[in-house]
Amino acid sequence: NYYAILMAGGVGSRFWPVSTADFPKQFHDMLGTGDTLIQKTFSRLSQLIPKENILILTNERYNNLVLEQLPMVKQEQIILEPAMKNTAPCILYASLKIKKQNPDAVVVVAPSDHWIEDEVQFVANIQRSFDFCEMQETLMTLGIVPTFPNTGYGYIEFDKLDSRPIKKVAQFREKPDYPTAKKFIQSRNFLWNAGIFIWSIKSITQAFEKFQPEMYHHFMKGYDLYNSENEKAFILENYPEAENISIDYAILEKAQNVFVLPATFDWNDLGTWGSLYDKLPKDKQENAIINATVLLEDSSNNIIRTEGKKTVVIDGLNDYIIVDKENVLLIYPKSKEQDIKKIVNKLK
Ligand code: GDD
Ligand code: MG
Repeated sequence: NYYAILMAGGVGSRFWPVSTADFPKQFHDMLGTGDTLIQKTFSRLSQLIPKENILILTNERYNNLVLEQLPMVKQEQIILEPAMKNTAPCILYASLKIKKQNPDAVVVVAPSDHWIEDEVQFVANIQRSFDFCEMQETLMTLGIVPTFPNTGYGYIEFDKLDSRPIKKVAQFREKPDYPTAKKFIQSRNFLWNAGIFIWSIKSITQAFEKFQPEMYHHFMKGYDLYNSENEKAFILENYPEAENISIDYAILEKAQNVFVLPATFDWNDLGTWGSLYDKLPKDKQENAIINATVLLEDSSNNIIRTEGKKTVVIDGLNDYIIVDKENVLLIYPKSKEQDIKKIVNKLK
């Protein structure tokens, strides 16, 4: 009864110029390990979930990338979205398809672009969550102990006095502003949302019916057609009309039966060059080098990546992102990494 919904439809624009709308970060070997992020995620999930029960959700323009990188996946496992509508619509659509196939399914919903090294602990945490979801109707989240007031994450408040390993969530807050995030961190009973969810198909479809009735009934109109030949035409016509909203705002902030398991593995949302830098091995001057030969003088804390192992010579440069990709060369201060998204828009 175990299924996975692997979300791989984001664009990853803060990783420009490597990540682009035609070739987003999940399809790149960002860590220089030989595997792309989606390949790593798939292999992590397949330790617990039968390969044929892992569904890949992505935009139709990435279909070929998925087939190339995950040759063991059959076309019917790839759920193609004709429009970018964020995570709520695609999760609902995939959940209804799974429901039709197996109403007793329990599902893990996972992003395709995270760094998780300890696969043994990852699998143990998912197993534990599956067990919990099979016992009661609940929406499970995995929580990460926060280290700074990051406003790009969801925050999960739990009851300080709750000593159980899986805790009832008092409040789920997606992407709070900085003062709120700071307050949350100080109060010490908040965790970051890892963006990995575990629930039964029954619980999540009921939650959609209750909290997003319009979206629920919109996708239910096609229920009889799912997993049949006529599904595609229905989705082409109806998917683009769905509201653009993430699962965090659509469901997690509203539901009452949310629980959290504090994760026992190290986790990193590979969202920016700086987050990648944190995870890479470094030289004595704290430079992280990917796929380059370097001659560095008086230079520290840089992240340097080239194509085809170019030789890079640098003197007197600190805290920079240096990335060479085809006809683009990016030299940008690490402190302004969030602005890379804006450059991408400017260049359009
Ligand atoms: N299929 C599909 N379709 N996938 C999508 C879409 C879409 O329209 N939009 C985003 N995704 C995928 C991304 O590729 C990524 O793997 C995942 O869904 C999460 O989307 P992000 O855009 O990266 O979300 P976020 O990082 O801003 O926030 C989420 O993750 C944080 C942790 O990384 C939230 O769940 C936060 O609460 C959480 O803290
Ligand atoms: Mg993310």
